[in-house]
Amino acid sequence: MSACLHDTRRDNIFIGGFMCSGKTSVGSELARRLGWTFTDTDRAIEERAGMTVPEIFSILGEPAFRRYEFAAVAGALEGSRQVVSLGGGALVNEELRGMVLSRAKLVILDVRPETVLSRAEKQKGARPLLDGGNVRALMIRRRPAYAHCHIRVATDEFPVSSVTDKILEDLYGTAAVLWSVESPFPGITGRDRSPAAAGRPSSPSWYREPSVPAHPQGTLPRR
Ligand code: S3P
Repeated sequence: MSACLHDTRRDNIFIGGFMCSGKTSVGSELARRLGWTFTDTDRAIEERAGMTVPEIFSILGEPAFRRYEFAAVAGALEGSRQVVSLGGGALVNEELRGMVLSRAKLVILDVRPETVLSRAEKQKGARPLLDGGNVRALMIRRRPAYAHCHIRVATDEFPVSSVTDKILEDLYGTAAVLWSVESPFPGITGRDRSPAAAGRPSSPSWYREPSVPAHPQGTLPRR
């Protein structure tokens, strides 16, 4: 599927992919750069349940977690001008996957099993399905869940800032995007991609000169 600028899904970007692929780090950076709100569905579930994800798994069980997850993702799809990071298992649900694909831009972050293992090592106990589990086997089982998307980016050795750049480039043709609160149009920064060059009035009230700093965000993931 290719990226398309002018459709009704442009105001919702959902980030999916396997555990430890960097969904939260990239999602929050993307939201910051676009000036949109950021939601991490795992955090929304924790707030709703009054428990951490590992507690929900151990006390209520995985099916209960998946019910919370369905509600959280379906609820997030009602919003707009937001970046939403999904839990790694959310797209396994075919119905939910269809809903996300039809109502949002879906970005899949790809990651190698070795990367997952080394990142997970630093956050032991945070992900019940990684504790003692076979990461490679789970990744193979999950392949169909991540097979369809609008944009796909590998994150293994890339810093958050360059993964974010790549997503913005795929969506808007440039990583230098400022999205104003008042305007329905993205302010595309840079000389040859100014609003005027894009066929819009020069210097509209919402246009700001680019200030796109290098973002030394470190390497993935930062939760
Ligand atoms: C899960 C991924 C986790 C969290 C839960 C289940 C999964 O989120 O939703 O532990 O089934 O892959 P992250 O992908 O953010 O770690």
